[in-house]
Amino acid sequence: MSRYCYAVGSLAFTIMLGDGEFDIQKSENGIEVWVTQMGNYMNMNTAWINRSTGTVAIVDPFDSERWVSALKEEGLRPTHLLYTHTHRDHVEGYRKMISLVPEVEVWGHEDASVSGLLSFAVFKKVDFTNKWNNQPNTTIQWSCGGIDLGVTHSPGHAPGHVTIHGHGVYHAGDLLFTAHSGRVDLPGSDPLAQWNSILYARKLLLNLPKEWRLIPGHRYDWIDGTTPDWVSIEDALKHNFSLNSPVLQQLEGN
Ligand SMILES: [Fe+2]
Repeated sequence: MSRYCYAVGSLAFTIMLGDGEFDIQKSENGIEVWVTQMGNYMNMNTAWINRSTGTVAIVDPFDSERWVSALKEEGLRPTHLLYTHTHRDHVEGYRKMISLVPEVEVWGHEDASVSGLLSFAVFKKVDFTNKWNNQPNTTIQWSCGGIDLGVTHSPGHAPGHVTIHGHGVYHAGDLLFTAHSGRVDLPGSDPLAQWNSILYARKLLLNLPKEWRLIPGHRYDWIDGTTPDWVSIEDALKHNFSLNSPVLQQLEGN
């Protein structure tokens, strides 16, 4: 188990994960949460692991060789891929993972399968073996091998975008970063849907334990100029610019 934030006197230091370096923390019921960042865009990956059932569910694995070799050292193997959306950087590791672990289950939202020439540069095809089909701004449970997660359909940045939370973390994908929210100027983006997703996310986050970690889809700057791998839900609710935008008040008033 490792931790990367230290407080000394009045100064807080944040030690950032190196490329492909794993932070491993155990939740109360024995479920492990592995978090890493990988690639030039500092994509954040989260995995929930239950050693007693051999279940390994990974969100948006970027460098599949790295994931598979790190898990192999622990006698583990990926069993499920959970995709937040199908932008190229988030499904970067898909083909390699399928070649290394052909039996892995691949989950994504049914709206996340995007076709068309305009989308070609932005999205990449993933053959989901299983699909979520819940309506925008609803949360459904995903349970397997003792891992219980909430999957929230949160479109706007991309069609079929989902966030995934459970066992001490809320993996925000590209809906929310630590201090900001995902861009909405790409093919398939929908700015109004994004604001509605952020509004729903705020309600959801307010009902989660404040010490849980918000894992963003990418590691970007925090409000103090540092670049932490995650922030607490309490800090995100307090300081994330989009979660505190007046636009949310306007939406609530409508
Ligand atoms: Fe994205």
